[in-house]
Amino acid sequence: MANKVAGYSKLQIALHWIVVLLIVFQFLAHEGMERSVDAFERGQSPESAALYGAYLHVAAGLLVLACALVRLWLRFTRGVPALPEAEGPLLKLAAHATHFLIYALIILIPLSGAAAWQFGIAAAGEVHETLFNVLMLLVAIHIAGALFQHFVLKSDVVRRMVRPERAG
Ligand code: HEM
Ligand code: HEM
Repeated sequence: MANKVAGYSKLQIALHWIVVLLIVFQFLAHEGMERSVDAFERGQSPESAALYGAYLHVAAGLLVLACALVRLWLRFTRGVPALPEAEGPLLKLAAHATHFLIYALIILIPLSGAAAWQFGIAAAGEVHETLFNVLMLLVAIHIAGALFQHFVLKSDVVRRMVRPERAG
């Protein structure tokens, strides 16, 4: 699928951690968005603080979408490092499946959110919330996998998501 290189580039690493920070932000600060949607559903205007929070939520969410698309483009043009040689086929499959699903979710979550926000489609809001819960589950598996690689298998996968191979 993608080229195999020795490590991730500076840009790939930066984008990974920027997306992590933005998702933590979305997790902690979605109250303004919720209050604005509630107000619109009651036919009222949201307070300006809630609306400001909603705009921040939209901006951060669209930034996640942009970062995800750039990361996918980099995966195919520059490439990503292969999974550790020593890893068994089942673990490799689990890692590939988790990464694939996380990419799908960080694209579908902003799109469903945009459908709910822009067009007031309530069902899209429900999908948005459900997909977010699925993402949280996958991220928990992803973090457990990274810690298992680092502390049990003693591979270099965590190090390579911190230290770039070369500028890019
Ligand atoms: C990856 C990016 C995003 C994440 C992680 C995220 C996360 C969340 C979370 C955690 C909630 C609260 C769900 C709950 O209460 O259970 C929420 C609600 C919402 N988000 Fe996002 N969001 C993202 C992007 C966006 C974007 C780009 C938009 C709009 C353009 C958006 C619009 C909404 C709306 C309208 C709601 C309220 C849904 C409802 O109450 O029906 N989100 N989001
Ligand atoms: C919202 C949270 C997170 C998301 C959405 C996320 C997403 C991703 C994705 C999509 C990849 C695959 C990159 C690629 O090859 O194209 C990846 C790789 C990686 N992530 Fe995360 N990640 C998150 C949090 C974390 C955290 C907290 C850690 C640290 C424990 C971590 C450690 C890693 C490592 C080490 C890799 C590289 C795996 C490898 O080289 O095979 N991630 N992450």
